[in-house]
Amino acid sequence: MNSPSAARAGTYQISGVSALEILDSRGRPTVQAAVELADGTVGVAGVPSGASTGSREAVERRDGDKSRYKGLGALGAVDAAGGEIADRLRRQGWRDQAEIDAALIELDGTQNKDRLGANAIVGVSMACARALALADGRELWDWLTPDGVTPRLPVPHFNVINGGAHAANPLDFQEFMIAPVGAGSLREAVRAGAEVYATLRSLLASKGHATGLGDEGGFAPQVAEPEEVLDLLVTAIGEAGYVPGRDGVAIALDPAASEFRGDDGRYHVAGQDLTSADMIERYAQIIEEFPVWSIEDGLAEDDWDGWAALTERLGERVQLVGDDIFVTNPAIITEAISRGIGNAALIKLNQIGTVTETLEAMAVCRRGGYAAMVSHRSGETPDTFIADLATGSGCGELKTGAPARGERVAKYNRLIEIEAAVPSIPYGLPAT
Ligand code: PGA
Ligand code: ZN
Repeated sequence: MNSPSAARAGTYQISGVSALEILDSRGRPTVQAAVELADGTVGVAGVPSGASTGSREAVERRDGDKSRYKGLGALGAVDAAGGEIADRLRRQGWRDQAEIDAALIELDGTQNKDRLGANAIVGVSMACARALALADGRELWDWLTPDGVTPRLPVPHFNVINGGAHAANPLDFQEFMIAPVGAGSLREAVRAGAEVYATLRSLLASKGHATGLGDEGGFAPQVAEPEEVLDLLVTAIGEAGYVPGRDGVAIALDPAASEFRGDDGRYHVAGQDLTSADMIERYAQIIEEFPVWSIEDGLAEDDWDGWAALTERLGERVQLVGDDIFVTNPAIITEAISRGIGNAALIKLNQIGTVTETLEAMAVCRRGGYAAMVSHRSGETPDTFIADLATGSGCGELKTGAPARGERVAKYNRLIEIEAAVPSIPYGLPAT
C-alpha cells in the first residue's frame, strides 16, 4: 500500500470508534462502524453478510437472543466496536492501516475473529481505511492502490439470474452473471449490463416466467436446468444488440457447489446425482456450447481432488474462481497455488476480516499468477468500498449483483463516478 509510510510514523491519532446496528439488504441486522481521527476526519463503513458462506470464513458475531431478530442481532459486535476496540485504537498513534489491523487481530486473539466478531472487526478496519484516505486527501481507490500496480476499472459482473441459497426457485446453480468484457469503457459496460437485464426481463415475461427478484437483484424464474438459463442469457444478449462472448458480453457462473453437494459426496443438480467427474464433464460441455468465460465454486469447498481435476481439465480455457474454498485467506490461496487448484480467487473483505489481509490475499494472487475478482455479499448495505477496492487493486473484475436494487447499483454508480473523475484509468481485464 503506498498510503501512510514510515516517514509519517504515528501521524494517525484515532479519537473515537463507534458503531450502530443497522439493517442489510435482506432486512437482517448488520454493523455500521465509524472511526474518527483527532483532526475531525470521520470514516464510516457498512458490513456485508453472506448466505452461502464458506466453513473457514471469519465468523460474524450474532447475539443469539431469540427475542430480537430471531437471534441475528448484532448488538454484541456493536458493543465490541464501541468498547474494547475503541479503547485499544485510542491508546496510541498509528503508522498505517497494517499496524491498526494487526492490533485488531491481536486484540481479538482467535483464528477466526469470533471473539470480538468479524463483523465488528471488518467494519472498523474499513472505516479506518476511509478515514486514513480522507486524512491523506486521497480518493479511497487511489489510497488502496499497491505500489507498482496500475489501477483499472473492473469488468462488472451483473448477476441477472439468481438461484441456490439466494432465491426460492428450483435452480441449483446460484448465480448467472453477464460480463461486458468487450465493452470500450466502464460506462458502456454498465449500459450493456442494464440493457441486457431489461431485455431478459421481457424475454422471461414473454415465456410466462415470473420476473420476481432474488437476493442479489437477478430474476428468479422457476427453471431448474442451468443450460436452459444459459440459453435465455445468450438470447437476451443478442436481442439487446450485443455479441455473446469475450468480444462483447460474456457469461460467468457461480454454481456455489458446496450448497448442493450431499453428504454422499454427490452433486445434486436438477434432480440428477453427479460425481465430481460428472460435474467436470458437464462444465466442459457448458463451455463448449455457451460463451462462459468464468466459473466460480464449480465444485465444493472440501472437494480439493475434484478441484485439481477440474483445473487440469479446464484451467487453460476458462477462469476457475475459488470462493468458499479459499475464503479470501492468504494462507489457503498460497496452498491452492502450490497445488494447482483453480486459477483465480474471489475477494470478500468480510470473509477474512481486515482490509490488510484482503490486500494481502490479492497480493498473493498477483505473485502467483492468479486472477482476482472482488465481490459483494448477498446481504449488502449501500457502502461502496468494494468499487474502490476493485479499481485500486487493478484486478479488473468486480461482481456486485444485478443492475437493480439500490445496494448493488450504488457500487456500479461509484465506478461511474471514478471513471468520470479520472478518465485515464483503463477499463477491463488486465493483460495476461
Ligand atoms: P454469499 O454469496 O454472499 O451469500 O456468500 C455470494 C457468493 O457465493 O459469491
Ligand atoms: Zn460464490
